[in-house]
Amino acid sequence: MALIRLFFLLSILRVAFAATAEQWRGRSIYQIIVDRFALPDGADPTACDAGKQTWCGGTWNTIKDNLDYIQSAGFTAIWISPVSQNYVGERTPYGDPYHGYWIQDISKLNDRFGTADDLKALSDEVHRRGMYLMVDVVVNNVMALSNTTDLSKFFFKQQEQYHPYCPVDYSNLTSEQNCWLGDTNVYLPDVNTQDETVVSEYTSWVKDLVQTYNIDGLRIDAAKHVNTDFWPKFCGAAGVFCIGEVYETEVDNCSPYQGPEALDSVLNYPMYAALTNGFAIPGQLNLSAIADTMAQSKKKFKDVGLLGNFLENHDVSRWANVSVDPQSLYNAMTFTFMSDGIPIVYYGQEQYFHGASDPYNREPLWPSKYTNTTAYQIITTLNKLRNFLVNGTDDWLHSEAQLLTTAPHGISVMKGNVVSILTNIGSPPANTSVAVYTPWENNYATTDVLSCRQWAVGSNGTVDVEYTKGGQPVVLVPSDQLKGSGLCGYEAANSTKSTASMASGATSGLSRFDAMMTSALLVLLSLGSFVFN
Ligand SMILES: *[C@@H]1O[C@H](CO)[C@@H](O)[C@H](O)[C@H]1NC(C)=O
Ligand SMILES: *[C@@H]1O[C@H](CO)[C@@H](O)[C@H](O)[C@H]1NC(C)=O
Ligand SMILES: *[C@@H]1O[C@H](CO)[C@@H](O)[C@H](O)[C@H]1NC(C)=O
Ligand SMILES: *[C@@H]1O[C@H](CO)[C@@H](O)[C@H](O)[C@H]1NC(C)=O
Ligand SMILES: *[C@@H]1O[C@H](CO)[C@@H](O)[C@H](O)[C@H]1NC(C)=O
Ligand SMILES: *[C@@H]1O[C@H](CO)[C@@H](O)[C@H](O)[C@H]1NC(C)=O
Ligand SMILES: *[C@@H]1O[C@H](CO)[C@@H](O)[C@H](O)[C@H]1NC(C)=O
Ligand SMILES: *[C@@H]1O[C@H](CO)[C@@H](O)[C@H](O)[C@H]1NC(C)=O
Ligand SMILES: *[C@@H]1O[C@H](CO)[C@@H](O)[C@H](O)[C@H]1NC(C)=O
Repeated sequence: MALIRLFFLLSILRVAFAATAEQWRGRSIYQIIVDRFALPDGADPTACDAGKQTWCGGTWNTIKDNLDYIQSAGFTAIWISPVSQNYVGERTPYGDPYHGYWIQDISKLNDRFGTADDLKALSDEVHRRGMYLMVDVVVNNVMALSNTTDLSKFFFKQQEQYHPYCPVDYSNLTSEQNCWLGDTNVYLPDVNTQDETVVSEYTSWVKDLVQTYNIDGLRIDAAKHVNTDFWPKFCGAAGVFCIGEVYETEVDNCSPYQGPEALDSVLNYPMYAALTNGFAIPGQLNLSAIADTMAQSKKKFKDVGLLGNFLENHDVSRWANVSVDPQSLYNAMTFTFMSDGIPIVYYGQEQYFHGASDPYNREPLWPSKYTNTTAYQIITTLNKLRNFLVNGTDDWLHSEAQLLTTAPHGISVMKGNVVSILTNIGSPPANTSVAVYTPWENNYATTDVLSCRQWAVGSNGTVDVEYTKGGQPVVLVPSDQLKGSGLCGYEAANSTKSTASMASGATSGLSRFDAMMTSALLVLLSLGSFVFN
């Protein structure tokens, strides 16, 4: 009887979740490499070396058992690495498929990470907490150790279900879509996503996957490397939000992949590049790059509010590998939460992990002891504020962020009634200040939610931020709007965690991003690191 009731409840949940782009707009995502997030009881906590490129022992169960760490920081969704069966066999020159991206048979789960029941249990627990589950899927390619491999182990067993072998030529779009990623050590045979049988098998597979595991959204690996017209069919069948990896730092090259003829959204590589340009220390410290990218993005992307904002992921160097000053992290991170787009935090970012790119950016999380760091606390505050704003009555989510100021060392962005003032001067105190002209009236009472300091607005709507104690980010909210937020001494409204759904909105236009500003480092990363993701 109890079982039947449980089953009934779960089937209701299944209908209730499966989220649309609009429902994802207000979410905040924590990205996880399943193998690296948490260890089972009794495992050796000192054994994992990211440089060894092998399994460390994380599972779907260990994620389920450690969701408090994620939810306490205010995240309302998790994105987990791929769940399908991977290459099984001898170690390759790039180690073992601990990351889950070396697909062999999509029809089976990866038993390294648990059983079907374990994955369902994770999904149910995520939903019980009012959170969403996003699963990473690899559609573009499978993995093989030769270009004349035996196809019998693969889901697609016919030669014509793959494009013929050729190495990718990145100056040729057809080649990017049809040739093989990887290299001659590890081939990534390119699935023929123009083939009708492939399309129909992929669409029925994804529909079934989403329903069976009650998945709310998909992150799509190497989305740029698939013919774009495949996505409306695939994501249409899935019936959930799709966000694609399009590793392009120029708005012009990235934006065509968002829209009704492509994907709901893409990861915001242009803004990632701009934030690195603007905030990384040492670095170019060019805040104009952010202003420029904002302006171009508004014109060119269909909907900037759905872009996935990030500072780190498994394909790029950790922020702290590129930038040595923690204030640079706090300021850049604040932008990813308080501007347009869906904030994404890669596990370990909150622990100041500082590995270089693949494989050093896939560190095990457990040696951090899940410490309540300053970064963790700032993330918690930003999530708390954003979750509160998302749920408010003034449609904060659909108000487009406006640039108020760009100064040599400061930038100010206003979204709805929230003014973020960010700087790249770093931790050392400096005798500098940034003056921001806001639309607020003289003497208007505001609160910086990060320090809980009160700020009165000066004449002509001016807000001055001094950096005599170092370059902290400032996030000003009208004090009377903080009632019910649970922030800075304002009582929280009596609530269960919000799963509110929201209305719609959009932007569009056209412009161009200057490639010159992308540092040599970023260019190298972008050439080198998506190949084996
Ligand atoms: C396999 O790759 C090698 C090395 O690039 C190439 O010489 C050979 O022609 C390829 N074979 C096929 C069947 O494409
Ligand atoms: C682009 O790549 C495709 C696929 O490899 C190839 O057939 C075509 O000839 C290439 N075009 C040019 C202009 O090189
Ligand atoms: C800073 O970025 C802007 C906008 O992208 C660009 O025009 C300018 O050349 C960059 N400045 C430097 C010093 O790189
Ligand atoms: C960057 O990562 C590499 C490899 O993980 C490491 O050797 C180096 O010390 C890191 N740099 C910083 C600044 O953390
Ligand atoms: C982290 O520390 C802060 C400051 O002491 C505290 O308010 C917060 O509750 C802590 N968070 C967790 C999850 O322990
Ligand atoms: C800070 O700058 C002001 C104005 O330029 C100057 O009067 C003051 O002496 C400076 N203070 C320090 C500590 O450098
Ligand atoms: C008042 O603010 C506007 C921008 O909002 C600025 O252009 C103007 O210079 C300011 N006036 C004074 C006197 O500061
Ligand atoms: C929360 O609920 C309690 C009793 O259930 C009530 O006394 C309190 O005023 C409520 N607080 C808010 C902010 O609504
Ligand atoms: C969202 O709004 C509803 C209705 O006003 C409220 O019950 C809930 O507590 C709010 N959630 C958050 C996270 O503020």
